[in-house]
Formats: sequence, structure tokens, C-alpha cells
Amino acid sequence: MQKELENIIKSIRKYIELEELAGTGEWGQVSLSGIMSGRDLSPAKPAPVPADTLEGLKKEALSCTKCDLCETRTHVVFGAGNPRAKLMFVGEAPGMQEDLQGLPFVGRAGKLLTRIIESIGLKRKDVYIANILKCRPPDNRNPLPTEILTCEEYLIKQIELIRPRVICALGKFAAQTLLRSQESITRLRGKFSDYRGTKLMPTFHPAYLLRNPQDKRLVWEDMKKIRNQLEK
Ligand code: URA
Ligand code: URA
Repeated sequence: MQKELENIIKSIRKYIELEELAGTGEWGQVSLSGIMSGRDLSPAKPAPVPADTLEGLKKEALSCTKCDLCETRTHVVFGAGNPRAKLMFVGEAPGMQEDLQGLPFVGRAGKLLTRIIESIGLKRKDVYIANILKCRPPDNRNPLPTEILTCEEYLIKQIELIRPRVICALGKFAAQTLLRSQESITRLRGKFSDYRGTKLMPTFHPAYLLRNPQDKRLVWEDMKKIRNQLEK
């Protein structure tokens, strides 16, 4: 009985591993082998997680040492949410709370982001939230160009794996970086641009809205445009 169970589990795991490698199965790009291999019942070595799944990419990022921020970070903040989200948010970089918890947008600005997401009838778990930089710059200083260039590879792969219909860039930094633009966020926000083939809507950063609540109305306008685009 025990042996039979082991064999069944082994064959399910094999199936899922192949599905992941093919990237086309009904489980799509979502890695289930992580869940399945919580307890290793087989004598064989667990297969390495391929980086062509979101879980594989995350694993790679969590041990990244490609730039100096790895020396000062507490946690890598890879991103969180639905790996099949239609809507993805991209912020600037983790702050203190995010660095401590390893999760994006969990501080005060994050609470406001949750309300912004809910304003179009979605929940945080429906969308995917990431940042341009996966590690916190010391004292929240601005990201350096070399850090951006090095780290953007993770974001580009993340977007390729999630394949959102719309990306919302939060704030001047994310918008200007992704769009390789010097335009002000005031000019960039409110209209769709293209980011590597995906529709991108820049809007104000929730931390900016905490200081300038009168501009929440404009973010609401941008969110309605995003909602309409998602309904198309
Ligand atoms: N600000 C950001 O840009 N990203 C976070 O994750 C938190 C605050
Ligand atoms: N300045 C920023 O950096 N971000 C905003 O969203 C607005 C102004």
C-alpha cells in the first residue's frame, strides 16, 4: 500500500515536472513541484527548478549577488500575487518594511495600493505586484543605473512568464525607467504606452498620494482606464 502510494506520487511529480518544462500544460507556468516536493518520498534527487517557471526565477533571484545591494538587504523582494494575473503593478524598490518582510508594498503606501486595487473590484491576490529593483537601496536612496540594468532582467522575465494584459507603473521612477523616458509623471500618467509589447499605464505612486491626497482623483481616472482595457 505504502509502495503503491509512493509510485503514484512519483508519477504525478514526473508529470508536473514535464509540464513545467514544456510550459504548456493546464498548470501553465505555475510551479506545483514546490508544493509536491514538500516531503521527498522518492529516493531520486528532486529535479532542479527550471528558471523558465516563475518559481524557478524566484529561486534564482533569492540568492542573487549580481549587484552590491545583496550585501545590505535583509530579504530579496521578488514579487507577490497571482502568477496568472491580468494586471501587474510595478513599483520602484523595496522600502524598509518590504526588506524586512520580503514582500512588496506592505508598508503605508502598500495599504493605499490595496485600496487602489480594490477600487476597480479586484483583490491583491488577483493581481501581481513587483518592483524594478528586488533589493532595498540603503536609506531608500534612488536606484543606480547599473542596479536597474542588472535587475531589470528579472522583471522582464517575470513579465514574460506572467504575461499580464496591462502593467501599471507606479510613480515617476518606474514609469521613466520602463519607458526609457525623461517626461514628467504628470505628462506620462493617464495614457497607455507600450512596454515590450504589453500595454503600460503610468500613474502616481501611492507614497506620493499619501503626501498629495488631492491627486487621488487622477489615479482613480487611470484605474478606470485600466479596468476598461481589462474588460475588452
Ligand atoms: N515603494 C515601492 O516602490 N515599492 C515597494 O515595494 C514599497 C514601496
Ligand atoms: N513624483 C514621483 O516620484 N512619483 C509620483 O508618483 C509623483 C511625483
